[in-house]
Amino acid sequence: MRRKLVVGNWKMHGTLAQSTALLQEVVAATTELSEDVEIGICPSYIHLGLAKELLQNKPLLLGAQDLNSEPEGAQTGEVSASMLADFGVSYVIVGHSERREIFQESDQLVVLKIAAAQAAGLTPILCIGESLEQRQQGLTEEIVIAQLNAVIDQVGIQAFDRAVIAYEPVWAIGTGQTASPTQAQEVHWILRDHLAARDAAVAGAIRIIYGGSVKADNAKDLFLQVDIDGGLVGGASLKAEEFISICKSAD
Ligand code: 13P
Repeated sequence: MRRKLVVGNWKMHGTLAQSTALLQEVVAATTELSEDVEIGICPSYIHLGLAKELLQNKPLLLGAQDLNSEPEGAQTGEVSASMLADFGVSYVIVGHSERREIFQESDQLVVLKIAAAQAAGLTPILCIGESLEQRQQGLTEEIVIAQLNAVIDQVGIQAFDRAVIAYEPVWAIGTGQTASPTQAQEVHWILRDHLAARDAAVAGAIRIIYGGSVKADNAKDLFLQVDIDGGLVGGASLKAEEFISICKSAD
C-alpha cells in the first residue's frame, strides 16, 4: 500500500506575516488529519527557517522548491542539496515546468539535480508533464516517457527507489483547468507501467502524485484513481482551509 502524499508548493508567494499565518493555520489543523496521509510544505528558501520552526514536532515535512546540482562552489545565489539536507529538508521539487520554461532547465540538468538530491539524502519530487500543444498533437505519452527516460538512462531505475514523480500537465498549472481523473489516471498508469517494465517492485512502490489546479472540490475524485497517490498543490496550498480539505481528501 502506498501512503498518500500531499505537497504544497508555495512558489514565490507570501510575505513573512502571510507565511507565518498560513503555517500556523495549517499546523493547527493537523490534529484533524489522518496519519495515513503524508504532508509536505515547500515554501520559498527564505521561509524555510520559519517553516522549520513552526513545523517542529508536527507531522508535516519540509520541502524545498529547487536546488543546485553542484555540491558546493562559487555559485552566487544558489543552494546545494547538502545545505538543504543539513537544514532538515526532506523533499525537493526538481524539474518543475516553471523552471524548465522560465529558467530553461534541460532534462540533463534535471537528471544532475535528481542525483545531487539523492546523494545528499533528500527525496526528489520529479515533475514531468506535457504542454497543451503537445497534448493536442497527441504527444503526451512520448513527452512524459522521454522525461522519465532521461533519468532512467542516466541514473538508472534505482533513482526511483527513493523519489516521487509528480505528473503536472503544463496546461493545468495555474489555469483552473484540471486534468480529469480519467486523463490523469491514464498518464499515471503509463508512467507506472513504463517503470514496471524495468523493475516491478520500484514501480509498485513509487508514489506518483498529480499537480495542476488541484482544488478542494476536485481532489477526492483525483485521489480515488488507482495510480494517483496524492497531489502537488500550488495556488490552493496558499489557503489553509482549502489545503487542509485537500489533505483530508487523500485519506
Ligand atoms: P496550481 O495548483 O496552482 O495549478 O499549481 C500546480 C503546481 O505547479 C504545483 O507544483
